[in-house]
Amino acid sequence: MSRARIAPRGPLTGEVRVPGDKSITQRAILLGALAPGVTRIRGANTGEDARAALAMARQLGARVTASAREGILIRGGALKESDRVLDARNSGTALRLATGVLAAQPFLSILTGDASLRRRPVARVIEPLRVLGADITARQGDRFPPIVIRGRALQGAAIQTQVPSAQVKSAVLLAGLQANGVTSVREPQATRDHTERMLPRFGVPVDRDGTAARVRGPATLQGAEIDVPGDFSAASFLLAAAAIVRGSDIRLQNVGVNPTRTAFLDHLGVVGSDLTRGNERIVSGEPVADLRVRAGKLRGARIVPDSAPGLIDELPLVAVLAAFAEGKTVVHGAGELRVKESDRVATVAAGLRAIGVEVEEHPDGWTIHGRAGRVRGGTVDAAGDHRIAMAFMVAGLAAKDGVTVLGAESARVSDPGFLNRLRGLFR
Ligand code: S3P
Repeated sequence: MSRARIAPRGPLTGEVRVPGDKSITQRAILLGALAPGVTRIRGANTGEDARAALAMARQLGARVTASAREGILIRGGALKESDRVLDARNSGTALRLATGVLAAQPFLSILTGDASLRRRPVARVIEPLRVLGADITARQGDRFPPIVIRGRALQGAAIQTQVPSAQVKSAVLLAGLQANGVTSVREPQATRDHTERMLPRFGVPVDRDGTAARVRGPATLQGAEIDVPGDFSAASFLLAAAAIVRGSDIRLQNVGVNPTRTAFLDHLGVVGSDLTRGNERIVSGEPVADLRVRAGKLRGARIVPDSAPGLIDELPLVAVLAAFAEGKTVVHGAGELRVKESDRVATVAAGLRAIGVEVEEHPDGWTIHGRAGRVRGGTVDAAGDHRIAMAFMVAGLAAKDGVTVLGAESARVSDPGFLNRLRGLFR
């Protein structure tokens, strides 16, 4: 396990690019494998999760080449049974989306993941897929991977999801486009809509109505050209770093600002950072912008359950900002964090305590007592979770004694270049 020690080095300044969006990259890979013809993905995320999705696509018979000049080229459309178990490693997105794809493929598939993924819930995706007629089982009464899928013909159905989860919604749409008839999925709260935006590029029309999306199957897919924007969640670590270190002023180029993802931008404004966006444009159906953030005096805030889905991957950063704010921050509605790569409600609370911040843990969030400029620092265990590792590296930039992160290598899951990117902002 590698450790990283991050200590204050003064303000962050300058410009930086972030890695390609992890969610969009994995969707493009799986749809590229399913779609006949050639799919070209430019600006893909190069982290471990995307690599796991690519390895699964190859194992299922897609022909994949990758080069710096051409990007990733996938020749798909003829998936075949793998003679090995498919390994999504740390990626919940690869596992759950592939479950939707494979539910309708006429062969047997067995999907697993690393120790973290094998503790994450899959009933949420198995149950709706069964309504379409899928034959899927999983360990411990369908609760955890490995998952066994006996692919078969599916019938369209109307699905109402129980948890707000883009992974579940996407799995249903990916199965639905291969089913006979109309499949609709309605969710309790809006989640990221990258799948809905991408499907038409592969030739699959999507009807949308509020928090519902509908596809008609069997759809005829065709390969697509996808330019992946910068990952908003990866950008958020840098935005948070600039927000907590006095005197910082940084610009991030080419960041995906899909409104289902960007509640953290609003949050930065609420707690007192100065954020501006410019050069707004649409790339491959996704809104993209350049962002600038300048540090300001931070104050506490209150996060209500309704806003949690739009902040889901940024909630550890909300907690880090809260530690460096004046006053109290109360977060509710973050219960889903308990079933991410780690139990993030618990790992964030443990991390904050380890750096000298008072925090009460709730079933669905925290109350954090901000210490403004007086956070001590210490040693934090990332619990094998990339977002926990990076969130506490960020905290190290403003904690008096710095922060040592145990298991810093887990940042590779989403941003292998994170530390270099951060270093580039100091001169
Ligand atoms: C993702 C959706 C979210 C998010 C995850 C990626 C996706 O999970 O936390 O990092 O790519 O669809 P849920 O939709 O399960 O909350």
